[in-house]
Amino acid sequence: RVYSASTTAPVNIAVVKYWGKRDTKLNLPTNSSISVTLSQADLKTHTTAACSSTFTENSLWLNGEAQDVSGARQTACFRELKALRKKLEDANPSLPKLSEYCVHVVSENNFPTAAGLASSAAGFAALVRAIANLYELPESPTELSKIARQGSGSACRSLFGGYVAWEMGQAVDGSDSYAVEVASASHWPEMKAAILVVSAAKKGVSSTAGMQATVKTSALFTHRAQNVVPKRMEAMKAAIKNRDFEQFAAHTMADSNQFHAVCLDTTPPIFYMNDVSRAAIRAVEALNDLEGRAVGAYTFDAGPNAVIYYQEKDEGKVLGFLGPLLAPEVVEWAGKYAKVAPEGYDNKPFDALKDGVSRVILTRVGEGPIRTDET
Ligand code: DP6
Repeated sequence: RVYSASTTAPVNIAVVKYWGKRDTKLNLPTNSSISVTLSQADLKTHTTAACSSTFTENSLWLNGEAQDVSGARQTACFRELKALRKKLEDANPSLPKLSEYCVHVVSENNFPTAAGLASSAAGFAALVRAIANLYELPESPTELSKIARQGSGSACRSLFGGYVAWEMGQAVDGSDSYAVEVASASHWPEMKAAILVVSAAKKGVSSTAGMQATVKTSALFTHRAQNVVPKRMEAMKAAIKNRDFEQFAAHTMADSNQFHAVCLDTTPPIFYMNDVSRAAIRAVEALNDLEGRAVGAYTFDAGPNAVIYYQEKDEGKVLGFLGPLLAPEVVEWAGKYAKVAPEGYDNKPFDALKDGVSRVILTRVGEGPIRTDET
């Protein structure tokens, strides 16, 4: 017989960024990080894992294409999950010996990979969750996050919904480097996000390669990891607990900017943001200025896409301000919100948004992985 289990897993976008590894094999970071899990109604990976005594090799398919399963990241996930299953079988001899079978994994993203959205986090979180379901593992999401972390660092945070911290830990074996929930999605459900998809001409430096170059060459990076992030982690956790958007926004934008400053401080420098990204920054700063408070908070990962967090009550302000700056075909909320900028307002600093943003994805804070099989 063939045993199988399925799950979905969400995308997460960090507001305190992970950048730098102290161990490249185990993906142990040089600083802790915090992210917001985004709703799976808009972005998700769906993964089915199956095993059978008749399977002759492990395999992994992503969006209909066979993937390499011999890579260190995949191998580590398969090995650790099998070891946990073996432990369970040793304690319960009546269980079928699934740990001895090969595993087939089939994964689909409900969003175009071409959009340049971080899919590795949702992908590895879904892979680990699906196999853990297949094996009926009793381990908590925090325990499983240590395995997902070895697939891709940021994946450890996608095992939870809501607001999630990845505590860097100190141990050399990674036993204390895992994800925990800071607050559930229902604690602060008003958090929304607009993702401005920016078409990049060519693929930039991968996160893995970029952070290694940073660790080797940037002095600002050491300052960030030692003096800035520890305090910011505490401030961000407090902002989330208090639903204090002003503080949340201040730290989110400062942290994104410092992460990109650290990239610029790397030799040779790494540029993830482009003119369109910078126009998005100017637009959010201008809107916050106009309103005299933090209405939106931008953040950028290892690419040019802007993620703008805002509270539901301010949607009219954010989309009303952005709408006239974007190409009409990407504005699905056309006519819904009044213009925010006063008559005669100078939109020139935001000109790059018009041709540069190819799509806007409107989403919000959401739940963690959801089991989708019938067992
Ligand atoms: C900028 O998790 O993709 O998105 O551990 O090498 O797989 P690896 O890197 P990855 O890096 C994510 C970097 C980031 C910041 C973040 O998500 O915290």
